[in-house]
Amino acid sequence: MAKTSDISGFYKLPIDERVAKIREVADLDDEEVDAIRNTGVLGDDLADRMIENVVGTMPMPLGMAMNFRINDKDYVVPMAIEEPSVVAAASNLAKVARKRGGFHTSHSGSLMIGQIQVTGVPDPWGARAKILQHKEDIMTKCDMCDKVLVRFGGGARDVIVRVIETMSGPMVVVHLIVDTRDAMGANAVNTMAEAVAPFLEEVTGGRVYLRIISNLATYRVARSWAIFDKDELGGEEVVDGMIKAYHFAAADPYRCATHNKGIMNGISAVVIATGNDFRAVEAGAHTFATVDGGYKPLTKWEKTADGHLMGVIEVPMAVGLVGGATKVHPTARANVKILGVETADELGMVMASVGLAQNVGALRALATEGIQKGHMRLHARNMAVQAGAPIEIVDEVVRRLAQMERFDFGTVEEVVAEVKKEKGLQ
Ligand code: MEV
Repeated sequence: MAKTSDISGFYKLPIDERVAKIREVADLDDEEVDAIRNTGVLGDDLADRMIENVVGTMPMPLGMAMNFRINDKDYVVPMAIEEPSVVAAASNLAKVARKRGGFHTSHSGSLMIGQIQVTGVPDPWGARAKILQHKEDIMTKCDMCDKVLVRFGGGARDVIVRVIETMSGPMVVVHLIVDTRDAMGANAVNTMAEAVAPFLEEVTGGRVYLRIISNLATYRVARSWAIFDKDELGGEEVVDGMIKAYHFAAADPYRCATHNKGIMNGISAVVIATGNDFRAVEAGAHTFATVDGGYKPLTKWEKTADGHLMGVIEVPMAVGLVGGATKVHPTARANVKILGVETADELGMVMASVGLAQNVGALRALATEGIQKGHMRLHARNMAVQAGAPIEIVDEVVRRLAQMERFDFGTVEEVVAEVKKEKGLQ
C-alpha cells in the first residue's frame, strides 16, 4: 500500500484495526507495532475515550523527587520526564534547602480569567461603561452555568473591561474573573464566557467572536522561597557565580529562555505526573515572564546578610485536582495521593518549589563544573542501551565510563563491546 495519510473512517475503527492500518502504511515490523500498541494502565477503553484516533500510549519514566520540605510538611514529589538529571537535581537541592528550613510558600488564590472579545463597537469606552453597569447581572449569569462550582465555594468574582487597540481597530475585551477552586477551570470558564456573550452583544451592540480562558493566569500565582546554605552549595564563590548566572538571565533573553526552561523542567514534570495541562502552565509561565517588560527570569536570587543564597519564584499555576486527566488517569491519581496535597493551591505551591529547586541545581552546575559531567553520567545508561548493551551489563558499562570520565558515543560503543566480550555475550 502506498503511503497515505488519507485513511477514510480511521477514527471509527477499533484500536486493533487502526494499528493494522498504521502497520501497513508505515511498514512497521512486529516490534514496532508492540511499541505503539500498548495502552498500559489506561487500558483500551480509557485511552480511546481520552483522545481521538488512539493506537496506544507513549510511556514516560516516572521518578520520585525526595527531600522536599515545604511549609514544615514533607512531600515525595512524582515527576514524569524523559530527561536525565532532573529528578536527581530536584532531590539534591531540596536536601540543601532542608538544612535552612526548606521551602516557604504562598498563593494568590484560584482565580482564572475568561476573555470575551467584543468587536465592531463604535463607542468602546461607552460600551465598557455599560458592561460594568451590568456587572452583577453578568456574574449571576456566570454562576448559573456551574452550580456545583458555586456549591464548592467558587464562581464569578469580578468583571474587568479593557479597551485595546488592534489591527482591526479598537476592541472591548471583557475579563470574567472566576474562582475555580480545585479545578483548573478551563471548562467552567469557557462555558461562562460563551453563556454571557449574547448578553454582552445586547448591551454593547457589538459582535462577539472569541470566548475563551486566558492562560496568563495572573490571579493564580504560586510563590515559594528558600535559603540554600553557602557551604552546601560549595562556598561563597560558588554563590557569587550563581548570582552572576541569574544576572546574566535577567539581562539577556537568549540566556533567560534557557534559565526558565530549566525551571519548567521541574514544574512540567510534576504537572504531567498529576495529569494537568502542561501546555497551559508553560504558556502562562513564559508569558508571565514578560509582564514587567522584556522577558525575565521566573526566579530571583540574592545573597542573605550571612552570605547564603536566597531564591524566590513566582509563577502562574493553573492546575487542578478535580476534573480532566487528574481524576481519570490512574497514574495521575496515584501520584496525587503520593504527593498528599489537599487543594489545587497546595499543588501549585509544591510545583513552584520544585521549579525553584531545579533552577538552583542548574545554576550551581553551570557556575561550577558545567552540566555535562553529571548529565552525561546519568545519560550514559541511555547511551549504553543505544550502543547495544543488554540490560544486565548497563551498570558495569556506566561504572567503567565514569572511571574513565569519557562519555562520548565512540567510547561508549567500545566499552559495551569490551564488557559484552568479557561476559561472552558477543
Ligand atoms: C537543561 O534541560 C536545563 C538547563 O539548560 C537550565 C539552565 O541552563 O539553567 C541546564
